[in-house]
Amino acid sequence: MILFLNGSPRKNGVTTSLLNIIADEARSAGAQVEWVDVNKLSIKPCIGCLKCRPDKKCILPRDDGHRMGELLESCSALVVGAPNYWGSMPGTLKILFERIVPVLEYYELYTWRLPRPRHKGKKAAIVTSSLSPFPYNLLPSQGGGALRTVRTILNTAGFDIREQINVPMTRDLAQIGERWLVRAKKLGREIGSW
Ligand SMILES: Cc1cc2nc3c(=O)[nH]c(=O)nc-3n(C[C@H](O)[C@H](O)[C@H](O)COP(=O)(O)O)c2cc1C
Repeated sequence: MILFLNGSPRKNGVTTSLLNIIADEARSAGAQVEWVDVNKLSIKPCIGCLKCRPDKKCILPRDDGHRMGELLESCSALVVGAPNYWGSMPGTLKILFERIVPVLEYYELYTWRLPRPRHKGKKAAIVTSSLSPFPYNLLPSQGGGALRTVRTILNTAGFDIREQINVPMTRDLAQIGERWLVRAKKLGREIGSW
């Protein structure tokens, strides 16, 4: 199952539109797609207790954070869409990633080893968008922040990031340039054989 995590609350925005194109192509190419709109989830923020490190599960009352952890655990590949908000990913998506740390990496307690990735070898792709014009859409402090922050997490979790589509200065599907559509369709077809 290929998990699509849509971090945009705008159903006709750039991120959702591109993710839809990718998902449609992937389905046509035979992929089993599971789609999640992150802003529709009900997830309590992490309380920073760090109990999930030894326990490997979150101590908060069961909510969509736990359910998403289980879904992510069972995916064979991951596509994350994230509009750039304040030089980062949207808070809703960040809250989700903060709640599922033990699903993404594991710790060997009482050693100085870095956390180990739990999704080594699984393929992934990232779609981001911002109102920053080129080349500011590439700067980590500006439009590139969503890409940088999502990349950091997926890299730590061991995902093999195969494609990153970072669309600058675009408001909706009508404004998306042809080359981004071509890249999205190509990615969707490739995902069919992931
Ligand atoms: C809360 C908020 C913060 C934003 N911060 C930035 C920013 O720092 N830099 C930027 O270029 N665009 C920023 N934007 C604009 C969005 O990145 C842009 O509209 C994006 O294309 C929205 O993606 P969507 O159409 O997929 O929802 C921000 C938008 C919102 C709502």
